[in-house]
Amino acid sequence: MKNNIILIGFMGCGKTSIGTRLAKKLSYTFLDTDALIIEKAGQSISEIFESDGEEYFRNLETDILKELNVKTDRAVISTGGGMPMREENKELLRSLGHVIFLDASKDAILKRVEGDTKRPLLAYENKEERIQELLSIRLPFYKSCAHMVIDTSDKSFYDVINEIEQCMDNSFKVV
Ligand code: S3P
Repeated sequence: MKNNIILIGFMGCGKTSIGTRLAKKLSYTFLDTDALIIEKAGQSISEIFESDGEEYFRNLETDILKELNVKTDRAVISTGGGMPMREENKELLRSLGHVIFLDASKDAILKRVEGDTKRPLLAYENKEERIQELLSIRLPFYKSCAHMVIDTSDKSFYDVINEIEQCMDNSFKVV
């Protein structure tokens, strides 16, 4: 298996915050699929959704995963929250390296995305209801895509990173 660590999970579960810190600690490259898409498209995620629609964005996500599969090693990769929803992406994610699902409760997510305006899928009057709805659809996809699951709800970034490192010592080695 490739020596990458891929973080999946719902919006606001801490993929980017944890990923940047973990990469630094391991001396790995940090990559973020949303950031790669924004760079390639020259547009924000909201602009892409607005001008070309969600399906177009999902195609860009799959393209990025294919590219990463060809050339990436020793990277911590943070992914958009909808990435594991496509069967094709699930396979691409799992062949890219060790997939870790950062789980979080609805309440923890709500706290973290309150006031957020950059996520078109959360641009709803009742954010709580929307998060609950999406979470219940997505949870089985996250779980079936992941090699391991870490609950981040009441934990600091530091705690989560330590847990990931412990998992790495016990279950897989990165070199
Ligand atoms: C999405 C999550 C976002 C981004 C886009 C769609 C989703 O990324 O890819 O807004 O479908 O959950 P984050 O999970 O990094 O917020």
